[in-house]
Amino acid sequence: MTEMIPRACVIGHPVAHSRSPLLHGYWLRTLGIAGAYERAEVTATEFPDFLKGLRQRGYVGANITVPHKEAAFNLVDRRNDTAQAIGAVNAVWYEDGQLVGSNTDVHGFLAHLDASVPGWDAAARRAVILGAGGAARAAVHGLLGRGLEVALVNRTASRARDLAAHFSMRPSVQTFDDLPELLGRADLLVNATSLGMAGKPALAPDLGPLKQEAIVYDIVYVPLATELLRLARQRGHRTVDGLGMLLHQAVPAFGRWFGVTPRVTPDLRLLIEADIRGPVGAA
Ligand code: ATR
Repeated sequence: MTEMIPRACVIGHPVAHSRSPLLHGYWLRTLGIAGAYERAEVTATEFPDFLKGLRQRGYVGANITVPHKEAAFNLVDRRNDTAQAIGAVNAVWYEDGQLVGSNTDVHGFLAHLDASVPGWDAAARRAVILGAGGAARAAVHGLLGRGLEVALVNRTASRARDLAAHFSMRPSVQTFDDLPELLGRADLLVNATSLGMAGKPALAPDLGPLKQEAIVYDIVYVPLATELLRLARQRGHRTVDGLGMLLHQAVPAFGRWFGVTPRVTPDLRLLIEADIRGPVGAA
């Protein structure tokens, strides 16, 4: 007979690059939980059957990654409010026999900001968010929820307008030309584009107009220290990096699957940092 331990997985295509197994495996090990977290390489054609039969396959839940997040949104039995607002599902679990879809990026975005700059929202009024993809949507939802005024800046204005239209408290839609003026009034600048990611052009705006107290948050985490963060640190701004968002977004789903809310610790961070840097001496 197979051993009945709770098992979860990350479903994607390709899924080999996912760091979720390392992350959840660390918590299972250090918390002494008899459970498993696996990779499931599943194509778009196979995905609907795989997700519908998740429990029959012995899983208590799963993370959903590229390219299945929108499909999962349409396939789950029900979606929580965050998934509904984001339009994509990155984590699923069962409640009363129903497969529930969530989006944990909003939690990850805010929890890491709260942990990095405690009390940041006491004085923060205005945020500038660069980007209009899934990550930007999570940032917009999170910051509007905390009562901030949001200005959205994206290369393709139509994508920013589409994103803004999803929210009742509409973010204003601006262009990169407006950035100097927007930065002058901002309490928080967020990079939610893929600029600055390894292999992409750097993001190096003139931070001159930014108030000294303003916080700079870059959701890119490969490389760990982006040019934007380097520039911001040089000017003495408080900075928030993308790796912490990745770690924090994993917390709520783990809690649902395995019944224990894990913690984001310096040791966990070091483990994932080492994986991002790769083996010493690697080409
Ligand atoms: P995700 O869902 O992970 O956020 P995405 O949907 O591919 O990823 O979005 C990437 C973001 O980076 C977009 O806002 C994109 O701008 P466009 O909507 O104009 O494509 C932004 N981006 C990517 N490369 C860029 C570049 N070279 N210059 C400016 N913005 C860029």
